[in-house]
Amino acid sequence: MSKMLPIAAALLFFYGTVALLGAAGSQAAVVEHTFVVKQVYIRHLCNDTLATVVNGQFPGPPVEATEGDTVIVHLVNESPFGITIHWHGVKQRLTCWADGAGMVTQCPIQPNSTFTYRFKVDGQEGTLWWHSHVYILRATLHGIIIIRPKSGSYPFKNQPHMDVPIIISEWWQRDLMKVDRNFSNGGNFDDNPAGSTINGKLGDQYNCSGVVEDNFVLNVERGKTYLLRLVNGALFSEYYFKVAGHKFTVVGADANYITPYTTDVVAIAPGETFDVLMVADAPPCRYYMATLANQPPLPDPQIPVFVSRGIVQYTDIPRADADRCRDQPPQMPEMPNQHDTMTTFYFHGNLSGLPTHPLLPQLRGRVDEHLFISLGKGTICREDKPSCKRGGSDEAIEVAYMNNVSFRLPEKMSLLEARQYGANDMAVQELPTRPPRVFNFTDPALIPVGPGVPLEKLEATRKATTVRRFKHNATVEVVFQSTATMQSDSNPMHLHGHDFFVLAQGHGNYDPAKHVRIYNLVDPLLKNTVQVPRIGWAVVRFVADNPGAWFMHCHFEFHIAMGMATVFEVANGATPEDTLPPPPSDLPKCIHKKE
Ligand code: C2O
Repeated sequence: MSKMLPIAAALLFFYGTVALLGAAGSQAAVVEHTFVVKQVYIRHLCNDTLATVVNGQFPGPPVEATEGDTVIVHLVNESPFGITIHWHGVKQRLTCWADGAGMVTQCPIQPNSTFTYRFKVDGQEGTLWWHSHVYILRATLHGIIIIRPKSGSYPFKNQPHMDVPIIISEWWQRDLMKVDRNFSNGGNFDDNPAGSTINGKLGDQYNCSGVVEDNFVLNVERGKTYLLRLVNGALFSEYYFKVAGHKFTVVGADANYITPYTTDVVAIAPGETFDVLMVADAPPCRYYMATLANQPPLPDPQIPVFVSRGIVQYTDIPRADADRCRDQPPQMPEMPNQHDTMTTFYFHGNLSGLPTHPLLPQLRGRVDEHLFISLGKGTICREDKPSCKRGGSDEAIEVAYMNNVSFRLPEKMSLLEARQYGANDMAVQELPTRPPRVFNFTDPALIPVGPGVPLEKLEATRKATTVRRFKHNATVEVVFQSTATMQSDSNPMHLHGHDFFVLAQGHGNYDPAKHVRIYNLVDPLLKNTVQVPRIGWAVVRFVADNPGAWFMHCHFEFHIAMGMATVFEVANGATPEDTLPPPPSDLPKCIHKKE
């Protein structure tokens, strides 16, 4: 049986209560928390920065549950912003109202208001996380969700001695609301975090006037196994993660068990989680754990290099080694190159799921809907003008799109309320099934922005609120095609309310004639976020069996803020067990902006 970290145990004592429902043995419990969202000053790098956090903490408090439990979180908003909290990866079967996607499933919880989120964590085990889903505030409004098995033991050989949350994130010393506005206004490539963090700590390679930043420290004992629960909560970057002198066995991804995979490096994109076993089997001393943000090479716009370090420290160091260990710096792992995008390609491609999943037979059968979604950047004309000068000109605003439509959130009511009440004055369009124009999507000549680049008409896009409607239980295949238009980023695509099976990935342009036969329909990985490779593609399939309105978007904050998003609406089934109940009575009212 794993142990809770002391800090988590203390938090649970302060902020949570675990009440057993029914007889012991049936084990279904209620995990209850109160989240007070507030602005506090946090000091790093000689600066006090005003940050919006839960219960005064960054990262926020963990939610720890056992599979089958009910989670109740009372959200008290004492911040000046409208807030929602999204339970990232929680399937929310028949509880779409608790999904917390701002203007998709609910209007924001206004300042000085409350809302109670209620949902079950059912049929999934491992690590997920929660984050705010209004604007960019999730930079500091996030925390881990841990779902442990009911039986108390994990379905892999090596039972862990202890759980270790590892939340990779960034520290921002900017007015985040302004950064968010900059994104919707075409982006500003000077908007960068001040550093990256592990569990809120920047690490000792950051200092200011000689004051060295703290490291996250993990004390280990020789021979014991640690379950590292990795979360990438960063806004900007995919990270490589390593611990010097140690290997990992990846046993879970996005709260699904996988075929164990041994590696010395994990690549984790924003929105992804991995459960990783690490045995403390190195010569007992001190080792750095390190994260490195990767990024595409030039001519893509470059961000600074972000590295954060924590320390793995053996507590039972033999006397003879103790002095030597104390006097020498911890060993640093050899990190991949920051422009290495192959290590992540192979890491993700090498993982496989379990061949026993009950949805697999349906998945191998008829596919009801085929979508091909291009992911890229384009421009719209300022002030809705019908035409303008593009190619980096001030007359145009850079946006991100799916199939050449840049998503705009509705302003009057959430899409789920519109679905429920049949609001017909909502200007909603159907997401196109494929891109309006076929071109060489991955031509590197399209990357640079500016006059003379062969983008011509490719750059023109439009803004709209798009949805895609699926009948209940439809099998849906989505091909995600990353493009090279004005950038060549990878795209961590995330779907709410469902996990999808990742059937294949590749570089270049997707071609069904070549690629359908490499689909893995035997033991595909089951994920809520798929890292669509840079200048490449990925194919997913899922069964649309959870009625509601589910956000689907890139988890890079600049991409979602710039419109790389849509909503998948899933119809009710024929029975009450397949029908979304009416909303909870305290669902926040929509406050209309004054014109
Ligand atoms: Cu994390 Cu929309 O999600």
